[in-house]
Amino acid sequence: MTHDRDALIAAAKAAQAQAYAPYSNFHVGAALGFTDGSVVTAANTENASYGLTLCAETNAVAQAMSEGRRGGLEAVAVVGGTRGEPGPVVTPCGRCRQVLNELAQLGGTDPVIWCAGADEVLELQLSALLPYAFGPANLG
Ligand code: THU
Repeated sequence: MTHDRDALIAAAKAAQAQAYAPYSNFHVGAALGFTDGSVVTAANTENASYGLTLCAETNAVAQAMSEGRRGGLEAVAVVGGTRGEPGPVVTPCGRCRQVLNELAQLGGTDPVIWCAGADEVLELQLSALLPYAFGPANLG
């Protein structure tokens, strides 16, 4: 494992500060850790047309893929809370699990997901969050 758990959570928290969430007031930050040691972060981006909201994890994957990354996803940290205050752990929503799976499966990894709350960190593999995933390998 290239990435330190607490460092990746700290990167997610730093990204959380950039959340644009005037409608839900729920600020989320995500950090993607890659096997080469690099980190890509993002926050959630809401929209006046509420359904167009983009989650932090999805934004982070889009950012990473826009930089040309096609795998190497080793670890993910997610933090969320109302007005950015620490609270219960936030696990990636269903859509984000599928989006994370795309990048993970391209590189054949099963990233660990660190979901950080005020008092605990829930550690799960993506394969546990999204069992029997459909991905690019199915279309091969
Ligand atoms: N949100 C995320 O960014 N990631 C998740 O995994 C769960 C939800 C955002 C979307 C919306 O801006 C706010 O949290 C409330 O749902």
